[in-house]
Amino acid sequence: MERQWWKESVVYQIYPRSFMDSNGDGIGDLQGIISKLDYLKTLGIDVVWLSPVYESPNDDNGYDISNYQAIMDEFGTIEDWEELLHGLHERGMKLIMDLVVNHSSDEHKWFVESRKSKDNPYRDYYIWRPGKDGREPNNWGSFFSGSAWEYDKTTDEYYLHLFSRKQPDLNWENPKVRKEVYDMMTWWLDKGIDGFRMDVINLISKVQELPDAEGPEGQYHFGGKNFVNGPRIHEFLQEMNREVLSKYDVMTVGETVDVTPEDAALFVGKDRGELNMVFQFELMGIDSGPTGKWEVTPWTLADFKRVMTKWQTALQGNGWNSLYLNNHDQPRMISRFGNDSNPQLHNVSGKMLATLLHTLQGTPYIYQGEELGMTNVRFESIEDYKDIEILNMHKEYVAAGKDEKSIMESIYSKGRDNARTPMQWNGGPQAGFTTGTPWIILNPNYKEINAEKAMADPNSIFHYYRRLIQLRKQHEVIVYGDYQILCEEDKQVYAYLRTLGGDKLLVVLNFYEEPAKFELPEQITFSSQELLISNYDVQPGADIRQFELRPYEARVYKLQG
Ligand code: NOJ
Repeated sequence: MERQWWKESVVYQIYPRSFMDSNGDGIGDLQGIISKLDYLKTLGIDVVWLSPVYESPNDDNGYDISNYQAIMDEFGTIEDWEELLHGLHERGMKLIMDLVVNHSSDEHKWFVESRKSKDNPYRDYYIWRPGKDGREPNNWGSFFSGSAWEYDKTTDEYYLHLFSRKQPDLNWENPKVRKEVYDMMTWWLDKGIDGFRMDVINLISKVQELPDAEGPEGQYHFGGKNFVNGPRIHEFLQEMNREVLSKYDVMTVGETVDVTPEDAALFVGKDRGELNMVFQFELMGIDSGPTGKWEVTPWTLADFKRVMTKWQTALQGNGWNSLYLNNHDQPRMISRFGNDSNPQLHNVSGKMLATLLHTLQGTPYIYQGEELGMTNVRFESIEDYKDIEILNMHKEYVAAGKDEKSIMESIYSKGRDNARTPMQWNGGPQAGFTTGTPWIILNPNYKEINAEKAMADPNSIFHYYRRLIQLRKQHEVIVYGDYQILCEEDKQVYAYLRTLGGDKLLVVLNFYEEPAKFELPEQITFSSQELLISNYDVQPGADIRQFELRPYEARVYKLQG
């Protein structure tokens, strides 16, 4: 196994809008982040991934960029950004930036030009087509509801937008577009950043004929077959690597929609010259029905284990996994896979999930507030929600006659605003996030769940994260050990073994509130055992061949000999 700094790192994702506000406008900003660098250092993380901070009209909170080389006014200035980079580097941490180049904002100067006329030099920077029989060029639906096409009367044509109508897709077939992107990446890399997280990067190559998606007429359908891992995707990424990335010692992680481990191997395979890691969505899909994420269905541990094991084994020795249980697009992991119903179960289940995240093979990604056990939120009315995906879905479902209560239940389980409520720094006014009015309502539980309280309590989830992160630095087997699932059929316990040379790591996790039994398979032998971490007190020297697990109990042992 090739050793790399990004395999040994722990990444922390910051969603700047909701992290820390320094000037009282209710919106998080760069100076706010700078004021919390020592907090990040105390936690022990190695790399910060910053969600977009570029100039943007904020139709999709910064994922709609109108200038890739300028900072959003609400977040500060390029000088603030330089100070942030310097502050991180000074403390031995790295910075990766979000690269959002499947689409730009419709307010980007390229698009402003592009829409002016069919012969504008920027016309081919985007994907324009004439209508078909008075309708859109094809039947593709947008990820954010409705058609993926918007009619523009200036030139009597439609442009493609897989996301909102204010996020037109860039035309990667055009070499000038690719050159612009590479130059922009080089500009940031030369400023000293340490890599990129690449937004929906596996959607950039489209089947040029743009054929209809399958499905009944008169409706919009997911056209993924024609743009997920499209025909030129690997050519484009190899070119990007050759032209830009290979010249720097940086890390990359691609957000890749709908990929299997076999697809992933093509993006991250050792000799592919593309990316270091991808974010997979398969695990995030285990509680969705056939119509998609809003059709919430109960997940099972069997599915959870199957998906994780598939990814762990498929990439072993060839690629590298990214490990995440939530981010700014997903509900809070503790509400989804753990238990937030009372303080005790909240504490142990948050730690149990953290144990999983930090002891599988791959690079762990912590999403802000996860280290405090921040939870989902239930706002009273749709008016309180801000996310374009939620608002568009709500409109569409209401128009289709779905009942309000069930729509709200879907939002409570899966809506992205669950993850976007402000960081809970303390139990004071506005949770210490702002002196003004926060841009989105705080989670009302901030008096119980907040950083100040967690830091003062040695038994908190926060301190457990610190210990897990430190363990990673002390035991190579945690980073590089091979993965082998144990007791595969067990419906309540997830157990696995990691092996590196003569060292073994035994991880045993009870995913439920009911107690469970664990039995170590006989063929696993060892002469010494050391308990590295647990979310309960464990008797020293307790038998590990067979034991009972308490609610959400997690134990990690190092075995030798
Ligand atoms: C994925 C991002 O994570 C999400 O927040 C965004 O809405 C879409 N890509 C479009 O950029």
